[in-house]
Amino acid sequence: MEKKHFDKAILVTGGAGFIGSHLVRRLVKVYPDTLVVNMDSLTYAGNLENLTDIEDYPNYRFEKADICDATSVMSILRRYHIDGVIHLAAESHVDRSISDPLDFVRTNVMGTVNMLQCAKNYWESLPEKYTGKLFHHVSTDEVYGALELGNGQMFEETTRYDPHSPYSAAKASSDHFVRAWHDTYGMPTLVTNCSNNYGPNQFPEKLIPLFINNIRNRRPLPVYGKGENIRDWLYVEDHAEALDLVFHNGKAGDTYNIGGCNEWRNIDLVKALVKITDQELGRPEGDSVHLINFVTDRKGHDLRYAIDASKIEHELGWRPRTCFEDGLRATVRWYLDNISWLENVTSGAYADYYKRMYSGR
Ligand code: NAD
Ligand code: DAU
Repeated sequence: MEKKHFDKAILVTGGAGFIGSHLVRRLVKVYPDTLVVNMDSLTYAGNLENLTDIEDYPNYRFEKADICDATSVMSILRRYHIDGVIHLAAESHVDRSISDPLDFVRTNVMGTVNMLQCAKNYWESLPEKYTGKLFHHVSTDEVYGALELGNGQMFEETTRYDPHSPYSAAKASSDHFVRAWHDTYGMPTLVTNCSNNYGPNQFPEKLIPLFINNIRNRRPLPVYGKGENIRDWLYVEDHAEALDLVFHNGKAGDTYNIGGCNEWRNIDLVKALVKITDQELGRPEGDSVHLINFVTDRKGHDLRYAIDASKIEHELGWRPRTCFEDGLRATVRWYLDNISWLENVTSGAYADYYKRMYSGR
């Protein structure tokens, strides 16, 4: 019923989170003839404040629901006549997966299987079945495991899965289920595996926003181990653009790697972040360097990630647009200009988590 004024309806799960909110904003603005339904259970990481600028758009709807709840998911699929699902909802923080692995199995594995099964049941009930339908699963480069230093290797779409953390094991498992629904039931599915995102609206438990907030508050910056681990950083809006392209133009059954071609050693990134944040706060150069504090390493800490994104570049013409220096400065500026957002999300339960995580360091 809801869909009759629109050409098509897309369900985005986890649209109130970091990447999901940037994707929802982009879809709502770029495709006024598409109904965009954001389904999110609003865990600690989900925040509707991320979307206040588009909440009144005629082609946007929000539904508070859990991806593990089959009754709610079926009712949303039917009510909005959903043609495509872009599935981002997940537990996403590696440190939390080490302390609470079962939450990650429930949401990332069971939740994904529930989404697949509901989409299958709904689409198979329609006269057109799977025609014009797609289930796009948003995953991570962490499923490929860890690369060594200095050998120039990169993760390709064909790299063997080798997850190490409970988070990446749960994501790897969910990727396999998505491919199983394609191969077994003929459901049009595809998977994207992306590297580390950064930008506005990321929950400040992840490296970049946590450290910006700590520099602001003159709190220690807990660098794990010797800070030698390497990540490949991508600006979140570039990821949202890639997801849009793959969803609309990618090939069902395929996998697309997405990355920034932008590898940084953690300690070098932290020093760059300290410099930019001090500048933006109007503090003297080097003022916050003393906050850098080497702490016990993360258990099973993957050494290096690096994505080979040549497939999406050659097939769909996507490349990251944002240079790291500009993206990082814009990100620092955003957090400093949105202190009330930071304070809202770091109060309550997160304050207890923060104390537990960082006590004694
Ligand atoms: P996030 O933690 O910021 O957001 C997750 C969202 O999912 C939140 O809005 C949360 O409320 C919602 N959610 C969690 N459990 C739910 C449930 N049971 N039912 C409904 N909603 C639920 O995560 P993010 O960083 O935006 O990551 C989004 C997706 O992208 C994840 O699948 C993640 O694995 C993947 N990914 C993230 C990165 C990254 O660098 N952040 C990189 C590659 C892939
Ligand atoms: O690679 C993609 C993944 O990137 C996503 O799938 C995950 O959802 C996302 O959280 C991210 O995982 P990481 O573990 O790489 O991100 P995080 O920001 O937690 O850590 C980045 C690096 O910084 C990592 O090597 C661990 C280190 N680190 C992190 C924190 C939070 C620290 O040294 N100190 C810290 O306090």
